[in-house]
Amino acid sequence: MTAPGPAARGQRYELSVLVSAESKYGATAEIAQAIGDVLAGHGFRATVLPPGNVSTVDGYDAVILGSAVDMGHWLAPAKEFVTRFRDALAARPVWLFQRTGWGSHQEARPEHGTRCC
Ligand SMILES: Cc1cc2nc3c(=O)[nH]c(=O)nc-3n(C[C@H](O)[C@H](O)[C@H](O)COP(=O)(O)O)c2cc1C
Repeated sequence: MTAPGPAARGQRYELSVLVSAESKYGATAEIAQAIGDVLAGHGFRATVLPPGNVSTVDGYDAVILGSAVDMGHWLAPAKEFVTRFRDALAARPVWLFQRTGWGSHQEARPEHGTRCC
């Protein structure tokens, strides 16, 4: 028989989400912070850190990773994040987003089309 989980014990389990994004000029970092703020507003424990400042993803229930797109590629620290934490990321939900675009065509969207790694 397994021990009752937090919900069964009447405790509220706060899901912990890491939001990590690499930014060159600041827009992607602002988006990461906005995602973290919205998650916190919905009761998640959200931590926002640039990829280079993350030493482990242990302890996070889910990870949201983003990058600015530079000459068709994600920025190196975001790509390195994936290789550094490959096994841990495979064991939890991961969402990707990227900030792209030029001039009036800038946008943030879920990653597709551009090579992450
Ligand atoms: C040198 C340079 C290269 C860029 N390369 C691309 C690109 O290949 N594809 C794209 O859609 N946007 C490209 N952009 C636009 C950036 O992805 C966009 O400005 C983004 O908002 C930058 O995010 P950041 O402010 O977080 O650095 C490029 C911008 C610069 C300055």
